[in-house]
Amino acid sequence: MTERGGIVVLDFGGQYTQLIARRIREQQVFSAILPCDAPIAEIENLQPAGLVLSGGPSSVYDAGAPRCDPQVLRLGVPLLGICYGMQWLAKELGGNVEKAERREYGRAVLEVPDGGQGSLLFAGLPKTLRIWASHGDHVRALPPGFRLSGKTENAVAAMENAERDIYAVQFHPEVRHTDRGTDLLRNFLFNICKAKPNWSRATFIRGTVEAIRQRAGTHQAICALSGGVDSAVAALLVHRAIGERLTNVFVDTGLLRKNEFAETLELLRGPLGLRVIGVDARARFLERLRGVGDPEEKRRRIGNEFIAVFAEKARELQTTRAHGEIKFLVQGTLYPDVIESVSVRGPSATIKTHHNVGGLPEQMPFELIEPLRDLFKDEVRRIGAELGLPEEMLVKHPFPGPGLAVRLLGEVTPEGLDTLREADAIVVEEIRRAGLYDKVWQAFAVLLPVRSVGVMGDGRSYGFTAAVRVVESEDAMTADWVRLPTEVLERISSRIVNEVRGVSRVVYDVTSKPPSTIEWE
Ligand code: XMP
Repeated sequence: MTERGGIVVLDFGGQYTQLIARRIREQQVFSAILPCDAPIAEIENLQPAGLVLSGGPSSVYDAGAPRCDPQVLRLGVPLLGICYGMQWLAKELGGNVEKAERREYGRAVLEVPDGGQGSLLFAGLPKTLRIWASHGDHVRALPPGFRLSGKTENAVAAMENAERDIYAVQFHPEVRHTDRGTDLLRNFLFNICKAKPNWSRATFIRGTVEAIRQRAGTHQAICALSGGVDSAVAALLVHRAIGERLTNVFVDTGLLRKNEFAETLELLRGPLGLRVIGVDARARFLERLRGVGDPEEKRRRIGNEFIAVFAEKARELQTTRAHGEIKFLVQGTLYPDVIESVSVRGPSATIKTHHNVGGLPEQMPFELIEPLRDLFKDEVRRIGAELGLPEEMLVKHPFPGPGLAVRLLGEVTPEGLDTLREADAIVVEEIRRAGLYDKVWQAFAVLLPVRSVGVMGDGRSYGFTAAVRVVESEDAMTADWVRLPTEVLERISSRIVNEVRGVSRVVYDVTSKPPSTIEWE
């Protein structure tokens, strides 16, 4: 998927590498991420207008510290080093990098010496900028031929050698906390690299569809739809590439929301023309969940059952499809899922195992097609819109893979599911009615196995408790509870108690994440 005149980002393992690529795409410039040690030929093959060397967690003096082929310095295209990228450049070009006495992390103030006169990178920017830094080492002595183009109280914050077109910053222009970071990147892209703003959602779609077509050849592919936007967009892209040779499977686990299975099937088959096989596996899932109260055990069983159902369907298709074997599995993996699953596997603590269809490939003989792997959720939504995915699907709130099972605390029973589905539908309906659905991250009900006494009519009731959870968030890593208008809370509460049998009390969850999580289990 090469677009000449784009930017190659060489990845030193920094947490913001994808964000750099995304900020470049936001300027309509094509960007590709390659590992920092990518062979020169592979970089040249993309015919980039410039290179960005990303940040990374290492110190340039660590044994085995990541490095680029020094030939990148002689490719004849402009370079921008960010954090570790800057340190690598400084060391490679004969400067001196040292452990800082004080680690700079978070906000700092950058001053541009001489008002940045003559610096193409800082052109048009103010003399002082608030920046976002995160580094332990810093550049003590500039390499020969370089001049200081920005400093903080403690460190060299930017350096450049305009003759050689090499620029470097010790902070993160891609992060929103850096003032005018976008302008700085624009200076690099357009004033320095003369990059072409010719990347768009349409070119992404065209390039991706073409690449899938070439890779798939005449083979078949299969996709597990979750009812959410990511798998639908992935399926649509593959459908554009290979049409009817893509078969989609949508499993009714019995853990979906009210009417969700039927409505989603209709939507995906109808206007979108996807070939979707609906599988009713409700009884199987209930059976597997019988008597299980522990949330992680529920997740594990649901994940395994999902794999089993999907594998059976795939085998069935494999033997019945007339033309060619199924070779590919399509997944709507997004970039944040990639990080999340890495951190789940890595040394950081597992808070919850997020089972969705992510567990499939290890156990099945398919090659993966993951067309959204480099994108963020909002980018996927925009691509979905371009592909004609209806609005209701585009704005749908995220929904956990294990579905209502993790919102029905304790054992999952058919009665509990029915009660929860009704209560949940009311929450969503009222949030929509109040015009808040598109403004919040998630809104749902949780059914607590806690009974309390109430009065209904003249009698005593002794029903369960529904908790209402409405949160706002950017990326689900942190979240805050939404200060709903009391009239909305009142409507939700009175409707649930009046309309949902078995619930006699409604509470509102007023905890943020952290210390809480979004889901209750
Ligand atoms: P938590 O509860 O961890 O949720 O704050 C963060 C986001 O992830 C969703 N979530 C899940 N998604 N499988 C999923 O696919 C899961 O097991 C799972 N648990 C939570 C949750 O809805 C929220 O958007």
